[in-house]
Amino acid sequence: MGIMVGSVIKVVFTLLASFAMIIPCLEAGIAEFDDFLRKQAHEAHEIALEAYVPSPEEITNELNLHVHLAFENSTRRELRQRRGQGCDATNPIDTCWRCRSDWAQDRFRLAKCSKGFGRRAVGGLGGPIYVVTDSSDNDMVNPKPGTIRHAVTQQGPLWITFAHSMIITLQQELLISSNKTIDGRGANVQFKGGAGLTIQFVSNVIIHGIRIKNIVPKEGGMIKDSYNHVGLRTRSDGDAISIFGASNIWIDHVSLSNCADGLIDIIEGSTGITISNCHMTKHNDVMLFGASDSYSGDKIMQITVAFNHFGQGLIQRMPRCRWGFVHVLNNDYTHWMMYAIGGSSGPTILSQGNRFIAPNNDVAKEITHRDYATPDVWKNWQWQSDMDLFMNGAKFTTSGSPIRLAYNKGFIMKPRDGTHVSRLTRHSGALDCFVGRPC
Ligand SMILES: *[C@@H]1O[C@H](CO)[C@@H](O)[C@H](O)[C@H]1NC(C)=O
Ligand SMILES: *[C@@H]1O[C@H](CO)[C@@H](O)[C@H](O)[C@H]1NC(C)=O
Repeated sequence: MGIMVGSVIKVVFTLLASFAMIIPCLEAGIAEFDDFLRKQAHEAHEIALEAYVPSPEEITNELNLHVHLAFENSTRRELRQRRGQGCDATNPIDTCWRCRSDWAQDRFRLAKCSKGFGRRAVGGLGGPIYVVTDSSDNDMVNPKPGTIRHAVTQQGPLWITFAHSMIITLQQELLISSNKTIDGRGANVQFKGGAGLTIQFVSNVIIHGIRIKNIVPKEGGMIKDSYNHVGLRTRSDGDAISIFGASNIWIDHVSLSNCADGLIDIIEGSTGITISNCHMTKHNDVMLFGASDSYSGDKIMQITVAFNHFGQGLIQRMPRCRWGFVHVLNNDYTHWMMYAIGGSSGPTILSQGNRFIAPNNDVAKEITHRDYATPDVWKNWQWQSDMDLFMNGAKFTTSGSPIRLAYNKGFIMKPRDGTHVSRLTRHSGALDCFVGRPC
């Protein structure tokens, strides 16, 4: 009897212990956390800690300085080129590459153009160019050469381009390995109607110039996730782009629309991320930064959201933040149905030079939304609005002490105010680029 009770307790204990291991893994979409993945998660976390900057206001200030310089330049150029077929790049990310007609011969130039917290993302810089020629996605374990799944699971840095326009319907999540650029310039590349893109426990990824829409959940199974590993995945949620425990990521000129879960979710200690020049439409939960009020590991999360257009048919979460530091700069919010920027668990939000056009609905004029906290708690969260433009009755409720913007190099660069936003975001979303001409 005594022995039996003992062994029952032992069994229960073993079950509990294995649940403790399994639960976080299920959330990670990983059904079986083997040694390879454990090591990868650990290394990704180390890189994320290095990507974190102790004084984020230096990065926000630097970006404002770049906006200022690029804007002055583009105004001068526009005056000069008004009669010619001038290329109209107005923000500092675009001025870095967009007006050069040699973009197809010099794709790597893009790797120098990221700004903000994702400024270190160089993707596949220095690696071979891989040309995707085949839009099929039939083998999750041994992907066929020429397919996107074969490309993103290659070893080492790789710059991935597309031979022609294509619609890719992913059968399962696309697990992108470290040091990759997905560069859709020169083709109309649509990820449509299948699973989404996942950036998990990796670093240094650029996603540029693609369109992602109608993404749906998929049941999971054995999926190749890197050159020498195939893992068992659980069901995927239907996010367009899911960033999980990853760092140094740059998402630029991507068009996103109408997916089952989020358009861009950034969770589980991810940091060093810039989302720029994207165009988002027709969606409910747009961007989630931090998924849990009990996971304070997201305090290292530092994200720049700049020069994006939040367009038609969007409802809420642009973004919805927890714990970390989010710089929301020079975005155009032309539509929201519930609110624009929200959060819980005391994130720091620096909103600068955005244009907020409220919907006509009188109960949705408020831009901000706070969850799970009473005013005497959230009054300490630092949510700051600086030179934003409010239209049609839009209101931003600020809170907390001012974010210390004093800069150790001795000056503070003021943001461009919200009246300039339509110029700064005019070319958001995937661009139509033709070889030999500026994009
Ligand atoms: C401004 O334009 C000049 C000349 O075209 C260029 O050399 C310089 O890099 C530009 N500066 C910025 C910040 O874009
Ligand atoms: C990615 O590139 C960096 C820098 O070259 C390198 O240290 C790292 O090992 C690479 N990561 C992988 C998973 O190949």
